[in-house]
Amino acid sequence: MSKDTNKTSIGEMAGRLLRGMTAQTAENTNEVQLDRSRIPAHIAVIMDGNGRWAKKRSLPRSAGHAAGVESLRAIIRECDALGVKALTIYAFSTENWSRSKEEVGALMGLLLKYFSSEIDELCEKGVCIRILGDIDGLPAPQRDAVNAAMKRTEGNEGLKLNIALNYGGRDELLRAAKLLAKRALAGEDVDSFTRQDFEDSLYTCGLPDVDLLIRTSGEMRISNFLPYQIAYAEFVIVDTLWPDFDEKELHKAIAAFQQRDRRFGGVKG
Ligand code: FPP
Repeated sequence: MSKDTNKTSIGEMAGRLLRGMTAQTAENTNEVQLDRSRIPAHIAVIMDGNGRWAKKRSLPRSAGHAAGVESLRAIIRECDALGVKALTIYAFSTENWSRSKEEVGALMGLLLKYFSSEIDELCEKGVCIRILGDIDGLPAPQRDAVNAAMKRTEGNEGLKLNIALNYGGRDELLRAAKLLAKRALAGEDVDSFTRQDFEDSLYTCGLPDVDLLIRTSGEMRISNFLPYQIAYAEFVIVDTLWPDFDEKELHKAIAAFQQRDRRFGGVKG
């Protein structure tokens, strides 16, 4: 093991430990009441703030990402328990390749670890995994791991867990346009194409629209995430950094969603 790798794993361990301590502190906060009959069907999450979380603790950025995986575990379990139909998480964007070699390597490493350590539990819960993004652009070990996870869980009928990986929203729209163009070139009438045809050409084919979009760390941006699917989503932006985001924070976000008056462009009453 190189000196650098060694330092990173110590950072990761410290990150996990600190994340656990923060989660325990959050236990003391008051519970919010949720209307169980109005749980959003599709929640999308931009898991932001891992780097700042690590920096605040003088840890390497990889420790923030490792702590972020712990939050992810907790949020997946809670979404499953609440009966959320689909959870879509932004794990790695097409732009994230521009980060340092160390950080990209750490994220890819976490991804591999995640699939080997979680797949049994996810399968047991009936979770169905789908990758949104360009799988062919991933390094071979990650590509094999995600393909195996999708294959193993494809028949599952529980929570749909969609992991945006090597994903870009504009690329997704372009890909859909190309798929339809190919159908037209093969002889279909362009004017016969419907919105359903377009939606069926997106990575999210068959999933409900996003109801609730959560972004952590206070940033008010979409960052090229699901630009089509969030057309009528309710946004909840919290200052909490992703590694500190826990089940109670999720409940608060859902409670905020339940307070919203969704009109879908119409008027009420
Ligand atoms: C944004 O925080 C976070 C990411 C780019 C990566 C998110 C990934 C994980 C939580 C773990 C990997 C996922 C799986 C499925 C194993 P940032 O690094 O931009 O934070 P900053 O804005 O504070 O720098």
